[in-house]
Amino acid sequence: MFSSVILAAGMGTRMKSAMPKVIHKVCGRELVKWVIEASKAAGADKVLTVVGHKADDVKAAVGDVCEYALQAEQKGTGHAVMQAADFIKSAGGNIVILNGDTPLITADTVKAAVDYHNECGNAATVITAVLDDAAGYGRIVRGADGGVLKIVEHKDASEEERRINEINSGMYVFNADDLLSALYNLTPNNAQGEYYLTDTLEILLNGGKKVGAYTIADNDEIRGINDRVQLWEAEKIMQRRINEAHMRNGVTMRMPETIMIEADVEIGADSEIGANVNLKKGTKIGANCVIGQGSILDGAVIRDGVNVLNSVILDSEIDSGTNVGPFAYVRPNCKVGKDVKVGDFVELKNTVIDDGTKISHLTYLGDSDIGKNVNFGCGTVTCNYDGKNKYRTVIGDNCFVGCNTNFVSPINVGNGAYIAAGSTITEDIPESSLSIARARQVNKDGWTDKRK
Ligand code: UD1
Ligand code: CA
Repeated sequence: MFSSVILAAGMGTRMKSAMPKVIHKVCGRELVKWVIEASKAAGADKVLTVVGHKADDVKAAVGDVCEYALQAEQKGTGHAVMQAADFIKSAGGNIVILNGDTPLITADTVKAAVDYHNECGNAATVITAVLDDAAGYGRIVRGADGGVLKIVEHKDASEEERRINEINSGMYVFNADDLLSALYNLTPNNAQGEYYLTDTLEILLNGGKKVGAYTIADNDEIRGINDRVQLWEAEKIMQRRINEAHMRNGVTMRMPETIMIEADVEIGADSEIGANVNLKKGTKIGANCVIGQGSILDGAVIRDGVNVLNSVILDSEIDSGTNVGPFAYVRPNCKVGKDVKVGDFVELKNTVIDDGTKISHLTYLGDSDIGKNVNFGCGTVTCNYDGKNKYRTVIGDNCFVGCNTNFVSPINVGNGAYIAAGSTITEDIPESSLSIARARQVNKDGWTDKRK
């Protein structure tokens, strides 16, 4: 059991952004939220994020998934943790310290570091990595017996210390009581005039406590994001993890390096995702679906056996066996039933369509309730807006809508009605009737010749 404190008060100047760094997103999830989720997945009891720079923006973006402490002025990592003193005191046990800008840290690593910390009986365990280029990082200074002596910041390090290539990831496991007592003894006597969290290790050692290091296997996990190039690099790594996880769950991907899938998207087994597909937050795809090349799904709930070809589906539900596209646009708040066809250049908005209905081509249905087994001819349009208000079009089961029909809503069409092609429907249609709403055709014999 442990609790986490996540440091996220810093500015993030190099992002060159009005938005705080830690709420920039990787694969659709804020950097700091990745860290919170990793902590929770590793078994964190409670999580607290230390916020400072644009604290309200961070809290608004991240929400109530964790507690917060405010560090009004950024006086160093030690000072940041001091702001969480009450939390640390009440949580007790082990405290894992993580950084809000290292989204690639995994639950497995957090858990392994905590286990290692417990096995060793340490007061503090620092997570370290061995890098080819350690410049900028705090270095791990070890004694003759290999034990950790202290961490020295790059700016404070001697020439010899700068040659050390084992670095401080900025992540730690502490015993809560030991952490609190060491924090009270920090002083800002260093090159940056900051309270360094790193100094707690030496303080604990001097107090006779045991301090250790857990060296990470995959250096990618400690990548901090400082600018937008690093954001992109992290996203590539994260996207690969996400896509690989789906593939291991039985999803086929065509050119997965081009497929963007955000966190928390679900895809059933034997579904196939084409190149350049973008699946955004809240999307759930069933089994045996094909999501064809170039489709964009955002908040889409897709049941089993659905084909989507080169289409956009936003905040809508598509039931099993239905075909969407190519080039369909399903806008928010649609519910499309089973075995429906939503064909090419069809736009749906705020519309419910019951099972078996066919909307094959070039049609706009907005604010509509459509029954079962309705056949829409090419070019049907609901005129749902009179410039001020929106009205509904309601069409019963088994209707046949001829090509190029306009529904000037509000309109109710009874079950089994037929509508002649080219009709502009302005009045309700009773069930089982034929409605023709167009001018009768007149052919004028020899008209062309007379005109000459
Ligand atoms: C820190 C470590 C260094 C380590 C490096 C890993 C110290 C003194 N040094 O360096 O050994 O190699 O991380 O990246 O701890 N933060 C606050 N409030 C502050 C200062 C920082 O919340 O007053 C947060 C930042 O937002 C960031 C994290 O703490 O998430 C680390 O801060 P940063 O300035 O990047 O750490 P460094 O000084 O580079
Ligand atoms: Ca710093």
